[in-house]
Amino acid sequence: MLQIDILTVLPELLESPFSHSILKRAQEKGLVSLRVHQLRDYTPYKHGQVDDYQFGGGAGMVMMAEPLALAIEALHGQYHFQEIILLTPDGEPFHQKMANRLSLADKLLLICGHYKGIDDRIRQHFISKEVSIGDYVLSGGELPAALMVDAIVRLIPGVLNDETSALSDSFQDNLLAPPVYTRPAEFRGWKVPDILLSGDPRKIELWRHEEALKRTGEKRPDLLNNLLLDS
Ligand code: 6GU
Repeated sequence: MLQIDILTVLPELLESPFSHSILKRAQEKGLVSLRVHQLRDYTPYKHGQVDDYQFGGGAGMVMMAEPLALAIEALHGQYHFQEIILLTPDGEPFHQKMANRLSLADKLLLICGHYKGIDDRIRQHFISKEVSIGDYVLSGGELPAALMVDAIVRLIPGVLNDETSALSDSFQDNLLAPPVYTRPAEFRGWKVPDILLSGDPRKIELWRHEEALKRTGEKRPDLLNNLLLDS
């Protein structure tokens, strides 16, 4: 079973995302174990202090090395993580392939960066991977951690009701997903494409592939270059 531990100064931010819908059910089914740890519980400093002014001056606080080192050592000693991942805007961009790879792991530790960042010695000596969810700055790594966990956990076999449905997600084959429709077949005079009502699975499959290509060309032409590079 995949176990994901998350180290944060704001465990509350992760409560709601982990206790609803697919992530909730995945934990109940025993397909993933999610644990959130409060960094302040590991600090040797008074009043739960975990950040301090940066050497050299400048605005913004830095997460101190010692609380992070003590927390990582305590958790890693217990669980032996395959990856110790720092969430930070200057990390490697998160994408579907990374989610696919991480969903095959046994034990992951996610560390939520905050303030100006973390003392660089921790990055050099403890962190095995640094991940960003996009080119914009957020207040902390908690929302990115929740997002990564969602993307990873839905790939674990048995998490989605329809086992194949993660495979047809957008990006899984470098294409956006085709349009989908449900009842009624006609709404305010707007009709569902005839082919979807034809009952011919081969034609439907072909149509969906063409629509996926068309959509990708219109909305994300950059993905079509990856398509050529990956094949
Ligand atoms: Cl992982 N953290 C923060 N604080 N901001 C981000 C991010 C992560 N990814 C994009 N922006």
